[in-house]
Amino acid sequence: MEKTFIMVKPDGVQRGLIGEIISRFEQKGFRLEGGKLMNVSRELAEKHYAEHKDKPFFGELVDFITSGPVFAMVWAGEDVIATARRMMGQTKPSEAAPGTVRGDYGLTVGKNIVHGSDSPESAKREIALWFEEKEISSYEKAIESWVY
Ligand code: TYD
Ligand code: MG
Repeated sequence: MEKTFIMVKPDGVQRGLIGEIISRFEQKGFRLEGGKLMNVSRELAEKHYAEHKDKPFFGELVDFITSGPVFAMVWAGEDVIATARRMMGQTKPSEAAPGTVRGDYGLTVGKNIVHGSDSPESAKREIALWFEEKEISSYEKAIESWVY
């Protein structure tokens, strides 16, 4: 089953949106396989966002992600990577459709509530970066034949 890395960013945690975001993925039918509230070191933030290290916003991005606790998660389901990205909405909240997390709650491109892996390669890399194997529970739901 495909897996993705989803993170409620510091603004989402501060605004009390952890439960709301978990609910959206749960109600869709995806399966939560790991989750933890954690403070992020600069080293981890820089590794996570390594693809952006030469961008002008990199410093601010790392400052923001390390500014307070985040809620890191692993979600599983068929096509969960692309579907979660659609449920999150466009990077810029001003362009994110209503009904998406960023469209409903995001304010600025810097403070856009949630992160989700953008490809199978990123998902594999990010899950390994943020989670130890023993922190992930792969299990089957009794209703597996109806939802993921
Ligand atoms: P990116 O990977 O392009 O977006 P996404 O989170 O949708 O995968 O960028 C990573 C984060 O960097 C983005 O969520 C917010 C921040 N960012 C800025 O602060 N300014 C920008 O101009 C861009 C493109 C991103
Ligand atoms: Mg990205």
